[in-house]
Amino acid sequence: MLDKKIARIGVLTSGGDAPGMNAAIRAVARTAAAHGIQCLGIRRGYNGLINGDVTELGPQNVAGIVTRGGTILYTARCPEFMTEAGLQKGVDSCRYLGIDGLVAIGGDGTFRGALALAAHGVPTIGVPGTIDNDIGCTHYSIGFDTACNTAIACIDKLRDTMQSHERCSVVEVMGRNAGHLAVYVGIAVGATAILVPEKEVEFETDVIEKMRSARIHGRNHSIIIVAEGVGRATDIGHRILEETGMDPRVTILGHIQRGGSPTARDRVTASRMGVYAVETLLEGRSNRVVCIRNGEMCDHDIEEALTMKRDLQESMYRTALALTSV
Ligand code: F6P
Repeated sequence: MLDKKIARIGVLTSGGDAPGMNAAIRAVARTAAAHGIQCLGIRRGYNGLINGDVTELGPQNVAGIVTRGGTILYTARCPEFMTEAGLQKGVDSCRYLGIDGLVAIGGDGTFRGALALAAHGVPTIGVPGTIDNDIGCTHYSIGFDTACNTAIACIDKLRDTMQSHERCSVVEVMGRNAGHLAVYVGIAVGATAILVPEKEVEFETDVIEKMRSARIHGRNHSIIIVAEGVGRATDIGHRILEETGMDPRVTILGHIQRGGSPTARDRVTASRMGVYAVETLLEGRSNRVVCIRNGEMCDHDIEEALTMKRDLQESMYRTALALTSV
C-alpha cells in the first residue's frame, strides 16, 4: 500500500545532461499528480536547491517534453553543495520549501549529493541519467541509447567520405572513464579497431595490425573508435601517421552525443524510472537508486551503489574483438 504522508516532492537534474531526462521529469511530475502530491522542479541541479530556484511542475507543465532532448530544468555541477555549508543551505531549503522527498536524476556526483541530503533527513531517490552508462548498480542509464545512435549516425556519414578518399578516420567518443559507448558504437559502425580504457592498448596489435588486416581483406579505409578515457584521438592520429605514413582524419564527436530527441528505449526507460522513483518515495523508502536489471525495475542503496563499478561487459568486448580481427 502506498503511504500518502508525502505532500510535496522535488525533482532535479544534475551533472551532464542526457537525452531522456525530460521523460523522467515528466514521469515524476505526472506520477506525483496522480497521487495528489505537488511536484516542484528544482532548476540548475543542487544550485537551485541552495538558492530556492524552483518552479511548480503540474501535469500540464510537462506536456510535450517526452520528445525533447536536454533537460527543461537545466543542469549544473555544484561544488558548493559538496561543502558542509552548501549542504546545510540545501537541507534548510528543503525544509523551507516543504519538500518531503527528492528525486535526483544524474550520475555519480548527483547521487553523492542525494546521499548527503538523505543523511540530513531528506528522503531521496536517485535516477541514473548519463550517456556514459557507467552506474554500477544498474544495467542501463538514461541517455545511453540515444548517444549511441547519434554517434552511429555521425560515423556512418564519416564512413562515406573516408571510403571515397580511401582514408583512415579516428573518432573520439565520450564515456568519461568507461568504454561502454565506444564498444557499442564500434560494433554498430563496423569499426576497424575499438580502444577502451578498461583494456590496455597495445598500439601495434590493437591498431596497426587491424588496419593492415582490413587492407589485406580488401577494405580501402579504416575507422578507429577511441573512447575519450583512453587519451586524445589526435595523439592516436599522429601515431598512425608516424607508423604507416597514412594521414588520418581525426573527429572528436564531443557534446553532439549528449543532444537530440531521445530514442524509444530512452523515453520508455526514463518513464519507467520516473514512475518507480515516486512510488518508492511513497512507500516510505529513501536513499535508493532506481535500477533496471535484466529488463526489470528494482532499486539499490545509494551508498553501496556509489562503491560499485560497472565493468565492461566481457561478452560485448569479445564480440568487438571478434569483429575487428580480420
Ligand atoms: O558524463 C557525461 C559526459 O558527457 C562525459 O562523457 C564527458 O566526459 C563529460 O560528461 C563532459 O562534461 P562537460 O559537459 O562538463 O564537458
